[in-house]
Amino acid sequence: MIQFRGVTKTYAGTQPAVDNLSIAIDRGAITVFVGPSGCGKTTSLRMINRMVEPTSGTILLDGADVQGRKAAELRRSMGYVMQSSGLLPHRSVLDNIATVPRLNGVPRPEARARAAELLDVVGLASVLGKRYPGELSGGQQQRVGVARALAADPPVLLMDEPFSAVDPVVRGELQQELLRLQRDLAKTIVFVTHDIDEATVLGDKVAVFAVGGRLAQYATPEEILRAPVDNFVAGFVGRDRGFRHLSFQDGTGVPIHPIETIEVERLGDPTVSVRSPWTLAVDSEGRPHGWVPQARRADVTSQAEAVPGGSLYSRGDTLRRALDAALSSPSGLGVTVDDDGRVVGVVRAGEVFELIEQARLDRGRADHNTAV
Ligand SMILES: Nc1ncnc2c1ncn2[C@@H]1O[C@H](COP(=O)(O)OP(=O)(O)OP(=O)(O)O)[C@@H](O)[C@H]1O
Ligand SMILES: [Mg+2]
Repeated sequence: MIQFRGVTKTYAGTQPAVDNLSIAIDRGAITVFVGPSGCGKTTSLRMINRMVEPTSGTILLDGADVQGRKAAELRRSMGYVMQSSGLLPHRSVLDNIATVPRLNGVPRPEARARAAELLDVVGLASVLGKRYPGELSGGQQQRVGVARALAADPPVLLMDEPFSAVDPVVRGELQQELLRLQRDLAKTIVFVTHDIDEATVLGDKVAVFAVGGRLAQYATPEEILRAPVDNFVAGFVGRDRGFRHLSFQDGTGVPIHPIETIEVERLGDPTVSVRSPWTLAVDSEGRPHGWVPQARRADVTSQAEAVPGGSLYSRGDTLRRALDAALSSPSGLGVTVDDDGRVVGVVRAGEVFELIEQARLDRGRADHNTAV
């Protein structure tokens, strides 16, 4: 869909900002450009819609050289979201969202009606439409930026660090929101970030750039975490990559064991006997409430005294979540729940490790077989 062929950009008389970049960006997928500051991510992104012109090389959009398109028209045909939401401060939120459709000649009432719909799409209350950008939080402004980029329903969205100005919690929400939107919209998205976690969460494919505009690796997030091609990528991906790679390993095979449960209402009941070292207190629907250690069983007479549990695991979720459930639980047993949040059993960290080891051996064998 978008192809860079030997693209170099040199700003006046210096080292190239982007050096002989060749990369094919898939249609309908999220491609993330990630790398340290100054490695040419923004320059590469802006060459797609001709906000920056290459010094040499070609960029093709659906097989046609973008140089053959009028720059202004090309720019309007792609959504663009930047780090500082880039909203016009003296225009209402609705008018900001309607900017490009208005430039494209859509009548005002129609453009505003569509803008109101988009507020809802990006999870904002309709009352916010009348406000000015300065009257919104950072996260809300970023959502408006995304709505504005979607307004003309462009097939391509270019996003330059759109979520970097907000706190980690809001950032996580915006990422999940983008993934949810993308499931319906299936746009071709090029997303720039310097955060490898954001890249692996969002990207169908990730392009890691090194300083000097060199493309160091272009692969799925799973592959980049599992097999960085060189020391630069390994260093950039960071120390936790082994653990983070578990996010891409399927937990279907994790054994789920039965666990003794007790309804929280019955905690003070002396006729209830508890045999196992840890018993799980559940509510009347069978949802987890907390752990009751056998040693303190007699003293635990109210709901408040149960020990809070760790993260929950859903059957079939990733190995990372299975391991986290086990490691974060005071009993060392990861509480596993069904789709309705009811306890179905527990997982053990040791057994998750065995699966990790088994997967590693299987992979080694598969690699060996393809090698011969
Ligand atoms: N208009 C410009 N004139 C001259 N040099 C520029 C210009 N824009 C960018 N550069 C240089 O090109 C290189 C790449 O810049 P670019 O903005 O593409 O990096 P980036 O990867 O987006 O960095 P960041 O993560 O900090 O946003 C940098 O060395 C930068 O100083
Ligand atoms: Mg940049």
